[in-house]
This record gives sequence, structure tokens and C-alpha cells, in this order.
Amino acid sequence: MTDETTDVVQDGEVTSFTELVGQTHAAAELKADAEPILTVENLRMYFPIRSSLLKRTIGQVQAVDGVSFVVPKGGSLGLVGESGCGKSTTGQLITRLYKPTGGSMQFEGQDLAQLSNRQMRPLRRDIQMIFQDPYSSLNPRHTVGSIVGTPLRVHDVVPRSKTLARVQELLEVVGLNPEHYNRYPNEFSGGQRQRIGIARALALQPKLMVADEPVSALDVSIQAQVINLLQDIQKEFDVAFLFIAHDLAVVHHFCPEVAVMYLGKIVEIGDRESIYSNAHHPYTQALLSAVPDIKQAVTGERRERIRLTGEVPSPIDPPSGCRFRTRCPIAQEICARHEPPLLQIGKRHKVACHFAGRLGEHPREPLTARLLGVDASGQPDPGASPVTDLVEQPGYADTWFDLDQKTIGRA
Ligand SMILES: Nc1ncnc2c1ncn2[C@@H]1O[C@H](COP(=O)(O)OP(=O)(O)O)[C@@H](O)[C@H]1O
Ligand code: SF4
Ligand SMILES: [Mg+2]
Repeated sequence: MTDETTDVVQDGEVTSFTELVGQTHAAAELKADAEPILTVENLRMYFPIRSSLLKRTIGQVQAVDGVSFVVPKGGSLGLVGESGCGKSTTGQLITRLYKPTGGSMQFEGQDLAQLSNRQMRPLRRDIQMIFQDPYSSLNPRHTVGSIVGTPLRVHDVVPRSKTLARVQELLEVVGLNPEHYNRYPNEFSGGQRQRIGIARALALQPKLMVADEPVSALDVSIQAQVINLLQDIQKEFDVAFLFIAHDLAVVHHFCPEVAVMYLGKIVEIGDRESIYSNAHHPYTQALLSAVPDIKQAVTGERRERIRLTGEVPSPIDPPSGCRFRTRCPIAQEICARHEPPLLQIGKRHKVACHFAGRLGEHPREPLTARLLGVDASGQPDPGASPVTDLVEQPGYADTWFDLDQKTIGRA
């Protein structure tokens, strides 16, 4: 992730990606009162590692480890984090490419985690996926008409005689020439191919789309067009999105709510204001500093880039306590001993850090010690009474810990 990827030169001027998207489309608004279309609770996916010789399980890849969130009907949640954080696995669990190790995924009154493949079949229409790579996700030997028309035929949604007309309608919706239905994917540019992928996902009029880095493979100016298209589609068809990206700039406009993931866990989640102007987790702050145009747009100031050193550690043997501690600039003793609970610190803002605070204003004492029943270094404190029900809950409670006022806040 570099500054260069978020800037584009247009007519000799440097225009940021965020500006490009914002030129034609207002930022999507939070649907705070909408019912959830998807409620994910404590979702886990551990991939077994088997020894090649004896086929015994010798370890586990903890790709997703206790993730909870809500996607509102017709709304969009952004899921952001570096490569290897478990974003794609989360998306693939929702589309039930895998059966999760644990947790639940409530979708319209059914728990997707519990359904058999047969029970899932009718729901596959409602939950569609858009993939990152518009080159490998379209079969080069099939015409666009066949690619977009296949889901219509498989699910028997329109009479065969009407398939072509429906395909042409879909091509028009995504901004392609409807007469190009008999062309092959290699006759299209990357952005156009992604439009074909979107038309295919849209064919069955899904209620939820999981878009896994749908613009990461595209040029910045094309990225903005595709995001604007997704926003138009959302408005017109009232479809909800889980929008996965590795860059906070990409989801800023489209997602009024964002979850930041690190090594299988959500470390911060909140509405746009909380994440982009009031981030409290050092990891979110580091990701934000890589997209200075956003910070600048919000506060008018440019801030120093925080460079994250090293790679995301292996999810086979993640660090003890806080998984971010091996790269965290403010880690202390307690961070190795205890995993920080995901605390609600605002009306729509949760963060998992013992020293949560605005950049440069992190507290010296862990704010979680009393809750966990430990002292400042994380050793057991016989005088403290731990709060034992700090479970991962999707959504937000009506009360929260107000870190500024040091009191309980209320909605
Ligand atoms: N099928 C699988 N088997 C074993 N490990 C996997 C599998 N899929 C993903 N992983 C591992 O899970 C972790 C998370 O991967 P992924 O969900 O693709 O992350 P992201 O999309 O955030 O880059 C990575 O360490 C990856 O290697
Ligand atoms: S809990 Fe500790 S290691 Fe983790 S982000 Fe907070 S300060 Fe850093
Ligand atoms: Mg991925």
C-alpha cells in the first residue's frame, strides 16, 4: 500500500482517488435504522494442517477467529486489512464456500453456518460474490452472453426465450453495450471485465453481494468508475454489500461503516466518522496514515506516515495476547499477556486495544485492566473483579465506555 496507489495524475494535476469518486457521487449514508440482512457472530474458520505422511492434523490456520458484525439491509459494510488478515475467508464463509469452524451467520431468519449444501442452494441466489481478478474470474472460452446468462438458466429465473433480452438489459445496467453479448472476455478492458462480473452477480437480483477487492486489480481512475457503478446499483436494487478492501481509501465513499481486521480478528469497527476522524487503534491509525488525502479532507491537516514494519505474522501460531503486538509502536507488558476485548467506546464505535486512544493521546495505563481483573502489567490483581461477559457481540449496545469522560455513555 503506497501513497502512489491512491493518487492519479489527471490533466497534469494530482487528483486523489477519493476526489475522483466524489466528483459525481455523494458518499453513501449510514442506514442506522435499517434491519440487518446479515448478522455474523463469533465466526471462526480454522483450516487444519495435515502431515503429508500420516494425514494427521498437526496444526491449524486460524484464518478467522471470532469475528462479529452486522450488514444492514441495502447498506454496506467495509472490511479492511492487509493481505492475510482473513478478509477473503470471511467472505467465502458467508457465501458458504467453506463451512465455518464455529459461530453463526443469520441471514433472513436462517443460520447459514448450520445449513447443509442442499439447504444452501435456494439461498445462493440471494448471496452473490464479485471477485478481485476480472481476468481469471471470467471463463475466456465463453461469450459474455453465456457468462451473464448462465445463472439465469441454472436458477431458471426467466423463460429461455427471454434470456438474451435479460442479459442485454443487465449489460446496459452495468454500462456495457448490450450488442456486445456475443463477444469474449479478452475483447474487453479490465474495467469492462469487472462490469461483466458485476452483471453476472446482479443477474439473480441478490439481496447481499460480497465484493472481494473488486477494484484492486484496476487503474485508479477506473476504480472510481466501478465504485460509482456499485453505488448506483445499490441505490437502484437496494442490495447490501460486504465490501472487502486492503486500503481504507477505497471503502471511504461507499461504506458508511467499516470494520478493520488484523490476523483473523476485528480490531476496530465503527461509522465513517469514528474510523476516519477518530480512530483509536494503532493499526487503524497506521492504515489511515497511508491515505493522507482522507485525513486531510476531514481535518485539513496532513499527518506523518506511520510505517508498519514487518509482515503480518502467521495465523498458525499467532502472537499471544494482542495479535498486533509484534508490530505495535505502543505495546506494553499487558499486551503479551491478555487479548484486549473489543470494547464499545462510542455510539457506533468499538475498539480492541488496552491503550486505545487518539493518535498521540494513548493512555499510559491500560484501560482494560479493571475489566480483566489484572494490574497494569497484566498480572492477576486479587482486588479487581473481572467483567466476565465481555463476549463478541455483533452491532452496538445503547451504553458504552466514554474514554474522554471516563464514564458510561448513553444513546
Ligand atoms: N483453504 C485454506 N487453507 C489453509 N489456509 C488458508 C486457506 N485459505 C486461506 N488460508 C490462510 O488464511 C489466512 C487468511 O487468508 P485470507 O482470508 O485469504 O486473507 P486476506 O483475504 O485478508 O488476504 C492466510 O494466512 C491464508 O494463507
Ligand atoms: S493492545 Fe497493546 S499491542 Fe495491541 S494494539 Fe493496543 S497497545 Fe498495541
Ligand atoms: Mg483476500
